[in-house]
Amino acid sequence: MNWQEIKKVAKEKLKPYCRVCPICNGVVCSGEVPGMGGVGTGSSFRSNIEALNKYKLNLSTIHEVREPDTTQELFNEKLSLPVMAAPITGTPYNMGGAITEDVYCEEVITGSIMAGTIGWTGDGADPLMYGSGIDAIKKNNGKGIPIIKPRAQDEIIRRIRLAEEAGAIAVGMDIDGAGLITMALKGQPVSPKSPKEIEEIVKSTNLPFILKGIMTLKEAEIAYELGVSAIVVSNHGGRILDHTPGVAEVLPEITDRLRGKIKIIADGGVRTGVDVLKLLALGADAVLIGRPVIIAVFGGGREGLRIYFENIKNELKQAMLLTGVKDVKNVSKNILRF
Ligand SMILES: Cc1cc2nc3c(=O)[nH]c(=O)nc-3n(C[C@H](O)[C@H](O)[C@H](O)COP(=O)(O)O)c2cc1C
Repeated sequence: MNWQEIKKVAKEKLKPYCRVCPICNGVVCSGEVPGMGGVGTGSSFRSNIEALNKYKLNLSTIHEVREPDTTQELFNEKLSLPVMAAPITGTPYNMGGAITEDVYCEEVITGSIMAGTIGWTGDGADPLMYGSGIDAIKKNNGKGIPIIKPRAQDEIIRRIRLAEEAGAIAVGMDIDGAGLITMALKGQPVSPKSPKEIEEIVKSTNLPFILKGIMTLKEAEIAYELGVSAIVVSNHGGRILDHTPGVAEVLPEITDRLRGKIKIIADGGVRTGVDVLKLLALGADAVLIGRPVIIAVFGGGREGLRIYFENIKNELKQAMLLTGVKDVKNVSKNILRF
């Protein structure tokens, strides 16, 4: 099984929800939410791709680097590459249902483990979805990270307890899901959170707590002050608000001030090892990948995901070698030209 074969199978299984385009850039699926696209005009999804494309790499081959080190440490786990599977829910209404939510979560968690990294799971309008992720994490000795929607406080804390019981590495909340009308329509209301509410959630657990969906320095600083362990700089793959900037555009403002103080993870539009290296050069500690992970799992299950991550690792290594980067833990901004 290679990536081309995986994509071919995925194209059949994801029809007509995802066309599995040569470049996954949000153009043909604009507005397809539910589905695989970006919300509204699709501008926020495309901005992620455009923002990454704006940065170019300085080719450098006169140096001592021979074996670039792609390993990273996060939440006391050693990762073989600084890339993880993003939390995804809604296989029936976003992806056509050829794979159930339970199977999707199981494949993501095990495929990520096989690749030496970590799978994240999500929470959705169907309250059973969070459980699919928790079950997969529990079955795999806690090797996974569940992300909870910004529900009522007691509902969040109840789900944090489930994450603790599953032995999860960390737990978090996609606070940018605060405006999801689909959740309210299905009797699962979500809302923005006050600093006090976030603090209460952070203090309710000993697990590292992650806030996903931060797009400004101001909110990143608030997260830091409230004791959050990690933020994910993310616009939810462009699925929650039209016309947000691209993640690679806002990331440096945040990392300039907070790198080293709080773990900074970024996602949105990462498609290649070169994209991973760009976000690391902009100060991220690690990145998440969303849609291509869906394609890998639909096209080849856990082995498909392992192969996908292996390809990304090889591309990343190659890019490091050709920009003179020895270690992903310390990537200089100077490798970028902008
Ligand atoms: C179909 C789909 C479902 C998603 N479901 C969730 C979710 O339940 N929780 C969450 O935090 N993010 C969710 N996301 C956002 C991803 O975690 C991630 O932020 C985004 O996909 C990254 O962008 P990329 O797909 O361009 O890599 C979803 C994304 C997609 C495409």
